Amino acid sequence: MQAVKDSKPSIRIRKAFPDDLPFLRSLALEAFSTYGDYETILTGFFLSQGVYTYVAEELCEDVATPVGILMMVIGNTKRRGPYFVEIVAIAVDQDHRKQGIGSQMIDFAKQWPVALSEEISIAEIQLSVAEPNLRGRSFFERLGFVFLRKEPWTYPAGQKALRMQYILKDGD
Ligand SMILES: CC(C)(COP(=O)(O)OP(=O)(O)OC[C@H]1O[C@@H](n2cnc3c(N)ncnc32)[C@H](O)[C@@H]1OP(=O)(O)O)[C@@H](O)C(=O)NCCC(=O)NCCS
Repeated sequence: MQAVKDSKPSIRIRKAFPDDLPFLRSLALEAFSTYGDYETILTGFFLSQGVYTYVAEELCEDVATPVGILMMVIGNTKRRGPYFVEIVAIAVDQDHRKQGIGSQMIDFAKQWPVALSEEISIAEIQLSVAEPNLRGRSFFERLGFVFLRKEPWTYPAGQKALRMQYILKDGD
């Protein structure tokens, strides 16, 4: 569990538990329904081995309210070596956007490999974003992600997908 300091309101990012599934489903519906049935798709991810799901929650006195989700997997290229972290989903509840919470979750992802087993070396973070999702694309660009390629697949609702990457540097 990681407490993120110097933020208002106070945000904590923690591992998700089965009890978080209703929140995840409602956020997936709100944030991703334009792209397909992500309520079902993200539920499947959540229940899959190898998908690491985190919840950002707002702390107010003794009450913790979930406000965001971050889902990651570890991938590698078809040839041998190097591994990368893939952000398969990131979303913040509509009422809590533009408060820096999404940026804090990306910072968390950038630091996350450090906490992993030292048996594998993580070289970069990758993600896919829908071509028409201009807000998402500029958000990732501001945080240092760059365009990598067009994906050969489309979202279930038909949008093209763009692959973005962030090269992890020493000390990230
Ligand atoms: C993309 C997303 C996760 C960003 O979450 P967020 O919590 O709003 O992110 P932040 O608040 O850190 O940054 C968002 C913007 O608010 C601005 N911002 C941050 N704090 C702010 C504040 N206190 N006041 C005003 N603006 C602020 C940031 O500068 C940023 O601008 P940019 O998008 O032009 O870079 C959120 O918009 C979302 O859930 N979208 C739907 C799902 C989605 O598209 N996910 C990405 C594809 S998987």
